[in-house]
Amino acid sequence: MGNRPIGFFDSGLGGLTTIPYLAEQLPEEKIVYFGDTARTPYGSKAVSTIRQFAMEIADFLRTHDVKMIVTACNTVSATCLDLLREKYPDIPIIGVIEPAARTVARICDDSNNIGIIGTKATISGGAYEDAIARHKEGLSIYSEACPIFVPLIEEGILGNEITTLAIKYYLDRFIYSNHIDTLVLGCTHYPMIQDEIERLYPGLQIINPSMEVISAIETVLREKDMLAKGSEFENTFYASDLSENFLNMTNTILEGSRFKVAFKNLEL
Ligand code: DGL
Repeated sequence: MGNRPIGFFDSGLGGLTTIPYLAEQLPEEKIVYFGDTARTPYGSKAVSTIRQFAMEIADFLRTHDVKMIVTACNTVSATCLDLLREKYPDIPIIGVIEPAARTVARICDDSNNIGIIGTKATISGGAYEDAIARHKEGLSIYSEACPIFVPLIEEGILGNEITTLAIKYYLDRFIYSNHIDTLVLGCTHYPMIQDEIERLYPGLQIINPSMEVISAIETVLREKDMLAKGSEFENTFYASDLSENFLNMTNTILEGSRFKVAFKNLEL
């Protein structure tokens, strides 16, 4: 039972940024990942569309007999978690916003000015503010949607002058006018530009919630006695479009380990 895979999904390659933390913390767990690279980005789409996509992907992951689904996407976590939990009450479904909110509540107090960055859908629904308030009240929270970051990252445009311009375009005014001292990467794609953000805003405390997400996974698996033990299952990474960047990222992240990358078309 515990040796069934964990299903992960994201609108594209963003969710891959959580996998190294899983590989390190829970090395016996196996993964079926789906990146909806053909339909990314999700964050600027209507909530009804995102929900439709999320249900299709969860259905697909279920065909792999997953023991848990991780919505490794803030946009899906912000808009679809209740729906997915209602539709699949028999398996645990873990989002990424709740673990991130826990981290913020743990390390911040009312002296901090906290900035949340994410997609339009994540930011406009106020999911982060609500989740943080459930853990700690009275924090100063500001948020900013950065819709161009995901398309740039999916294209592999990283570490050059275009990335710098895009980051400055969204973050200069946001960070300086709100005196932000702590920045939460509220999109699983953003760890790929974390170095660049750190370079541009030295001294800024950056929260990448990936580690906390894996701890949340571990807690639930332990509680349900579902941790894997020495499983032989091969990790599989599906994408609805096998972009070069997806292949490169998967190779970089899983360097040296056994895995398979495959194409899977999902249709409306
Ligand atoms: N990685 C997704 C997230 O965390 C990106 C969503 C998008 O495709 O816009 O929100």
